[in-house]
Amino acid sequence: MTTNTQPAPLTRRNFLKLGLGALSSLAVLEMGAASLFFMQPRRLEGEFGGVVNAGLVESFPVGSVTEFPDGRFYLVRAADGFLALSNRCTHLGCAVHWQANNQHFFCPCHASSFDQQGDVQNPPAPRALDTFPIEISDGQVFVNTLRAEKRDRYTPEQVTQA
Ligand code: FES
Repeated sequence: MTTNTQPAPLTRRNFLKLGLGALSSLAVLEMGAASLFFMQPRRLEGEFGGVVNAGLVESFPVGSVTEFPDGRFYLVRAADGFLALSNRCTHLGCAVHWQANNQHFFCPCHASSFDQQGDVQNPPAPRALDTFPIEISDGQVFVNTLRAEKRDRYTPEQVTQA
């Protein structure tokens, strides 16, 4: 009895099957890589989703409210420190606008308003504006917009001391 150790010749059909399998595997790998890329949280320096360097502490007078549109927040300088308030209304998420003449944040969608600390003055907004963590380093104010902090109302501990 003799055994044939020669591999079977590659037929056209087998060649096409191999090629199709390789292309399918490549497509699955590409889709997986693309999905992972899009699922990554945004971490953009200086923009919403990253850490924003707002500037020097002394460039914000006490009582000032400064808008950072790219960061989607307002920086409020209180007597003892800073608050970074999200510009998203806590009702349905419309952008609120600071109205200096009325000294409040106003939501144009359903007329909610918030005071300078972000507390609700006028519903339907159910709670105070969210805040973003602040770090003061080398005399500069850094706002981390990666993680908004929900709160029911303003309390003095929320202020980052300057
Ligand atoms: S979204 Fe602001 S009041 Fe409705």
